Amino acid sequence: MASSNQHVLVFGATGRIGQLVVNKCLEAGHQVTGVTRNPEAAMKKQPKIKWIKADALDPKTYEDALVGQDVVFGCTGSDGIKEKTVIFSQGYARIIEAMERKGVKRLIAITSCHDHPNAGWFFRRFVKPCILNNIYADIEVFETWLRKEYRGTVDFTILRPFEFKKGKGGKYVMAESYTAESTGWNYKSIDVDVADAMYEVFKKNLYLKKYVDVGNKKG
Ligand SMILES: NC(=O)c1ccc[n+]([C@@H]2O[C@H](COP(=O)([O-])OP(=O)(O)OC[C@H]3O[C@@H](n4cnc5c(N)ncnc54)[C@H](OP(=O)(O)O)[C@@H]3O)[C@@H](O)[C@H]2O)c1
Repeated sequence: MASSNQHVLVFGATGRIGQLVVNKCLEAGHQVTGVTRNPEAAMKKQPKIKWIKADALDPKTYEDALVGQDVVFGCTGSDGIKEKTVIFSQGYARIIEAMERKGVKRLIAITSCHDHPNAGWFFRRFVKPCILNNIYADIEVFETWLRKEYRGTVDFTILRPFEFKKGKGGKYVMAESYTAESTGWNYKSIDVDVADAMYEVFKKNLYLKKYVDVGNKKG
């Protein structure tokens, strides 16, 4: 169980989920550092944490900030619509390698569950192949590298939410991906639940080196 006053580094701390994760960590009494490419704007929106200007694709820009961190949360994203992205395959691979160099053990990162059988027709036939294909292709490269090649010391947990929606939250479920359990779920994840799940996984040290769907049961 994670105690309070831990050192937490959040990639994507200005994003939809990253901001929620930052808030959860602050509420729990942790020392939070946020990564952004635009610290002036970030500081205006969230003055309660330390910000560093860094690019997730360039370890030189954030490596020093990893020293002494107890956990890294990965909430980076890319619209990836017009061109190919490497924010997952290169971004997270470089972060993991840098964590090893700096002796940081715990990573909790979001990708996306895009292969769920409950995804609707519109998503499968249009959104996935025509709009989000670059993102999903890059997630596939990253997760394949982790599964098949990565044998290092970082205890990662990859959370794979479904399409985000707004809502009150509080009734989410988690299950290892590619298992039957989550096939009875909706193809939506409430954003506050995703942030809560990331934090719970850290706090209770759950799902080491696992891939985890997070969503809501049907009905
Ligand atoms: N939206 C959905 O329905 C959905 C569903 C399932 C999974 N997901 C996944 O969930 C994750 C989080 O999504 P979100 O909607 O919270 O993201 P978001 O609001 O689009 O925020 C993206 C974040 O990534 C950061 N970022 C992007 N490129 C970066 C780079 N090169 N270096 C450093 N930071 C970089 C941005 O930081 P700065 O601009 O401040 O640098 C920003 O904080 C994404 O991976 C997304 O694919 C989304």
